Amino acid sequence: MKDKCNREIKHIRFSITSKCNLKCMYCDREGFTPKTSELTVDEITKLCKVLAEILNVTRIKFTGGEPLCREEIVQIIKNVSNLLLYKDISMTTNGLLLYEKAEELYKAGLNRINVSLASLKPKEYNKVYGSDSLDKVLKGLQKAKEVGFDPIKLNFVLMKGINDTEMEDLIDFCRKNGFILQLIELHEVSDAVGGNGEFYKKHHLDVKPIIEDLESKAEKIIVRGSMQNRKVFILPNSMIVETITPSHEFCMGCTKLRVGCDGNLFGCLYRSDLGKNIKEALHNHHSIAKYEQIVKQVVDSREPYY
Ligand code: 5AD
Repeated sequence: MKDKCNREIKHIRFSITSKCNLKCMYCDREGFTPKTSELTVDEITKLCKVLAEILNVTRIKFTGGEPLCREEIVQIIKNVSNLLLYKDISMTTNGLLLYEKAEELYKAGLNRINVSLASLKPKEYNKVYGSDSLDKVLKGLQKAKEVGFDPIKLNFVLMKGINDTEMEDLIDFCRKNGFILQLIELHEVSDAVGGNGEFYKKHHLDVKPIIEDLESKAEKIIVRGSMQNRKVFILPNSMIVETITPSHEFCMGCTKLRVGCDGNLFGCLYRSDLGKNIKEALHNHHSIAKYEQIVKQVVDSREPYY
């Protein structure tokens, strides 16, 4: 299904809980505030089935809050995997519970993980995440590697005066461990979900100079057309760095449909207000055409934010 800018929906980003075990300074709360209770496991499974059938999508990413704070997380992954409709089931996690859960998640059918890691220095880590848990995350990452997750991506949100001197350390760390580094430019969080105006002003850093530096060092550069035109740099030793920078080009390459944990379907991180809640509809035995109508309304509401 295509939107009015001819952007086809190719994947789903599904928040399964707004609960979190960290207090991250930059958090965008996935762009929404839940209005009602979380979808149940059955509702999530049904919605994943419906969306795959309507949109022909085969890729899904589970997020939160922190998705591992959802007690039934392993069951959710199992159910979605058992639908046999998704080829790529991934998750963005802060990694705190990864050590305990990595093996079960992998066995349940989770293919890939992205782990948020803004610093390798305990003091800075504590400052950003409000928790003394860097070691736990590092142990979780090793465990995830051991059980077979591949690739493992690290989400590194760059912040002036906090971690802007750590880029090289992160690259080395990823190179040693075979991880992919995702360099993410800090974006502003809308007031509707709590805002981060002051924090943004103080810590936002343009990643352009870093991208230019990567361009000069890269052996190869790829543009991921269906992933917000993200640039991927292949550095010597096959080290991979991906960059995520909000821009018009970024928006034009966006092929995502978002689902909030309360069942709100929406088309853009910044426009959850244009969403449609599908939770009630899931309780009825609607034909696929009825669901398609709701999904189409949301897809039609999509427009580039930048
Ligand atoms: N700016 C950039 N990235 C953010 N994330 C969350 N909030 C922000 C923000 N304000 C990203 C981080 C995290 C993922 C869940 O969302 O990469 O790993």
